[in-house]
Amino acid sequence: MSETPRPPAAPRPPSLLRNPISLAGGAVAVISTAVGLPLMAADLFSHRTNPYLGILIYLTLPMVAMAGVGVLVLGAFWERARRRRRPDAPAHRWPRVDLNNPRHQVGVVGALSALIVMGVLLSITGYRAYHFTESVQFCGLVCHQVMKPEYTAYQHSPHARVACTQCHVGPGASWYVRSKLSGLYQVYAVTTGRYPRPIPSPVKNLRPAQETCEQCHWPAKFFGAQQKTFTHYLADEQNSPWQIQMLLKIGGGDPAVGAPTGIHWHMNIKNDIYYVASDEQRETIPWVRVADRDGHVREYMSTEQPLSPEQLAKATMRRMDCLDCHNRPSHVFRPPDRAVEEAFEAGRLDRSLPYLKREAIRLLSQEYVSDAEASAALLKGLAEFYQREYPERVREQGVAIQQATAELQRIYARNFFPEMRTDWRVHPNHVGHLNAQGCFRCHDGLHKSRDGTVLTKDCAACHTILAQGPPEEVAQARLEAQPFRHPVDVGVDVTEFKCSECHTGTSGL
Ligand code: HEC
Ligand code: HEC
Ligand code: HEC
Ligand code: HEC
Ligand code: HEC
Ligand code: HEC
Repeated sequence: MSETPRPPAAPRPPSLLRNPISLAGGAVAVISTAVGLPLMAADLFSHRTNPYLGILIYLTLPMVAMAGVGVLVLGAFWERARRRRRPDAPAHRWPRVDLNNPRHQVGVVGALSALIVMGVLLSITGYRAYHFTESVQFCGLVCHQVMKPEYTAYQHSPHARVACTQCHVGPGASWYVRSKLSGLYQVYAVTTGRYPRPIPSPVKNLRPAQETCEQCHWPAKFFGAQQKTFTHYLADEQNSPWQIQMLLKIGGGDPAVGAPTGIHWHMNIKNDIYYVASDEQRETIPWVRVADRDGHVREYMSTEQPLSPEQLAKATMRRMDCLDCHNRPSHVFRPPDRAVEEAFEAGRLDRSLPYLKREAIRLLSQEYVSDAEASAALLKGLAEFYQREYPERVREQGVAIQQATAELQRIYARNFFPEMRTDWRVHPNHVGHLNAQGCFRCHDGLHKSRDGTVLTKDCAACHTILAQGPPEEVAQARLEAQPFRHPVDVGVDVTEFKCSECHTGTSGL
């Protein structure tokens, strides 16, 4: 057998990647990776995360790089198709890898290393992207304008160190996926400007409180009563202080450990309460049903706004949970009167400035189109008032007036968001009953059951007033249960009304 001479080696066809499209895709991928890597290193080793940088590094650049790779591959397909169409194009062959060939060795090792590096990079970016989209910065700052009210309020709440997602998403994969899906829609809504102003509450499909709040607070852990002092200031010339000291019967508790009583016990542990609201905001609640653990059921209907049997049959029932009282655990928008009183109490407003509370409320409760306009109006308004009514104070207490202006501007910036049309009126707080109906949505004394029982409005059902009056008196008082005394005589028995009928957040005007 004679050796057949080897045919002369066919010239190697140029790589399929050698085409303008793949070239462009490859360049994009390489450049975005080259830009991203140093940024990522910088971000990993820095303590502060910048949300915008985060978006660039963990979302935009990886997406661009992936797109580059995609284009690169597409280019190769296109090139192959092109060569096929051309009759003189060499037949398509799969590459033959020969590990004895040093060039192939280099190629295989190179390709494998590139794959490993890409894999590692992708998993790191994926991991970081996951954390990044979970971060408070992402939720609060990325949609800067949209989330500004909630983010600002959150930073000044007792939950400022609890991540947004711990309440809004909670643990587990399925809610994570759900939140990311609705998040995609939200990103779309924000980029196209199609988001509601204000963002409405209650939040639809918020995860049940048992799975979020109760991760950290569980009802069996609330005990006894809490002594609380509320300090108010009247809208008179002296901004006279007025205090109410009370025991709030928070209660709850584990029956195995102690005597269970109080608000959380009645509302959360002993009973299941269902209700029907006739508005989206759940401000009007005509019908309530309570079923205790022994199976006794009682239904209350509002005598003021009763539902017909047909309306009731059609209505959606909601099971009462933490959020029906604690609807603002983290985003409290204070009404003008409460915000001003808090500033008095903290010493940030000087109580010796005459009529400061009244004037502050008057200025804060006007409509402004922006923070800047409000700032200017507060500055001008306060100065003009004292100039006109108390010119001698302007000379003596000029600094205090300036400080008061700055404080009012701060109050405005924290609690009023004209761009998002968000303030206390849109998001009332349901714990209590002074500035919003809160507990009195049901406990208004007008919800009756068929057997004649009235859902209690007894002032001592939820708290015991121990002392009330000017602080000097309260400090001297023997603490004992007493009926409520309204600080000013308004000519009616206020307990016959809902407090919020007069206290709309601007009381004193
Ligand atoms: C302690 C739990 C908690 C934390 C932490 C929290 N939220 Fe909320 N958030 C709520 C509750 C409760 C509501 C109101 C739900 C309702 O009434 O149905 C709400 C409502 C909202 C709303 C709807 C508008 C409104 O004001 O009712 C937005 C937007 C929002 N949160 C964004 C955020 C962002 C952004 C963060 C992080 C910066 C955050 N939340 C952190 C509990 C929380
Ligand atoms: C990740 C844990 C965590 C989650 C989830 C959480 N909280 Fe809290 N909560 C806290 C911490 C921490 C405090 C502050 C305790 C303190 O100041 O003593 C707090 C305080 C509170 C307070 C007392 C506020 C005050 O003014 O003193 C209330 C009420 C409350 N949380 C309700 C809720 C509700 C309702 C939810 C669910 C929407 C919730 N929390 C979810 C950790 C959590
Ligand atoms: C019927 C209304 C109501 C319901 C429902 C309710 N709470 Fe409360 N809760 C209150 C009131 C009222 C207070 C005390 C008032 C205050 O914070 O000023 C309070 C206080 C608290 C506090 C602070 C306790 C302390 O000792 O400082 C926490 C935490 C809390 N609630 C968590 C929850 C959680 C979690 C749920 C759901 C399992 C829940 N609450 C359900 C009305 C309610
Ligand atoms: C959705 C309606 C609804 C709201 C809102 C509501 N409650 Fe209740 N509450 C009920 C029902 C129903 C009962 C049980 C009445 C019964 O046992 O027949 C009840 C009972 C109570 C009891 C026991 C009363 C007693 O006489 O023993 C307390 C305390 C209480 N609620 C406190 C509160 C507080 C505080 C708030 C506001 C933070 C509040 N509730 C808001 C429906 C409501
Ligand atoms: C269903 C329960 C409930 C009933 C009934 C009730 N309250 Fe209250 N009340 C509360 C809660 C809860 C708070 C605490 C709000 C908070 O922590 O901000 C409160 C707070 C108050 C405060 C202090 C508010 C402030 O900011 O200074 C006064 C005053 C008060 N109640 C008076 C009354 C009077 C008068 C009645 C009878 C007409 C009454 N309450 C009936 C639950 C109730
Ligand atoms: C008929 C209207 C009316 C009703 C109803 C009413 N108030 Fe008032 N309240 C006033 C007026 C007016 C003032 C005086 C405002 C001022 O001088 O600052 C006032 C002042 C107060 C103050 C002093 C702090 C402040 O905001 O000025 C407290 C606390 C108060 N009321 C509690 C209550 C409670 C609790 C209820 C419900 C049980 C209630 N009020 C019902 C009209 C009312």
